[in-house]
Amino acid sequence: MAADAETWAGVRAQLVGSRFDDVRVLDEVDSTNRIVLDEARAGAPEGLVVVANHQRAGRGRLGRTWAAPPGGSLLVSVLLRPDVATDRLHLLTMAAGLAVAAAVASVAHVDAVLKWPNDVLVGERKLAGVLAEADVAGSGALRAVVVGVGVNVNWDAVPHELATLATACNLEAGRAVSRVDLLVAFLRELDGRLRALDAVPADYRERLATLGRPVRVELPDGPFLGRAVGVDDAGRLLVETDDGRTVEVAAGDVVHVRTTSP
Ligand code: BTN
Repeated sequence: MAADAETWAGVRAQLVGSRFDDVRVLDEVDSTNRIVLDEARAGAPEGLVVVANHQRAGRGRLGRTWAAPPGGSLLVSVLLRPDVATDRLHLLTMAAGLAVAAAVASVAHVDAVLKWPNDVLVGERKLAGVLAEADVAGSGALRAVVVGVGVNVNWDAVPHELATLATACNLEAGRAVSRVDLLVAFLRELDGRLRALDAVPADYRERLATLGRPVRVELPDGPFLGRAVGVDDAGRLLVETDDGRTVEVAAGDVVHVRTTSP
């Protein structure tokens, strides 16, 4: 299907039975995460989905921006009001990463893997990212979580400066890929995985390309090197350092370090 032949009209019908019963498709916005977070704070129920054709100020992890060519990406945020302890919130982003990988496999026949904490890669190139933002009450109680996903879907080409870093579904599949089909597949997968959160850590470990790899962990107080040896059930990455310590990493950036053959 050509990307410009997409119609979003049938999406809702394909989501009957899932929690995602309010799907709003917008043209240009600042950030779908910002919109859904504002709706959450105003009391909107779980199940709201906001999709945009283009974002002027897309938000990425660690305060970064998320830029994508207009019309070429799936930019979507969902509103969840999960009954999970705040120390298990990672499970939601892990579930979203798994749902993206499964959607891309079923719709585009592209085999994607995960990089901790929630990048979706083909080989070493980034295909999608996940950003979860929480609305937490002053008491510390979790009121809502917005899970936003940006998937590179139909790109004319990868910009020169991202040549080794990014890819898009169409470039991997060799044909245009329907954002509508991807959205439906993603939301159905996510709905199912949210119903079975306890199964998420094992599935996540299985898709995680980071495991077993030498990594550089970037933390606010500086980087360190080690080998990723596990992910615990709360989503923390376990990194073994050269001096034999195992460090639990709850948040931060991880770089897969390439090993050079002698
Ligand atoms: C990352 O840094 O890898 C996460 C990127 C998440 C981007 C998506 S695009 C849809 C949603 N709205 C935003 O502003 N950000 C997320």
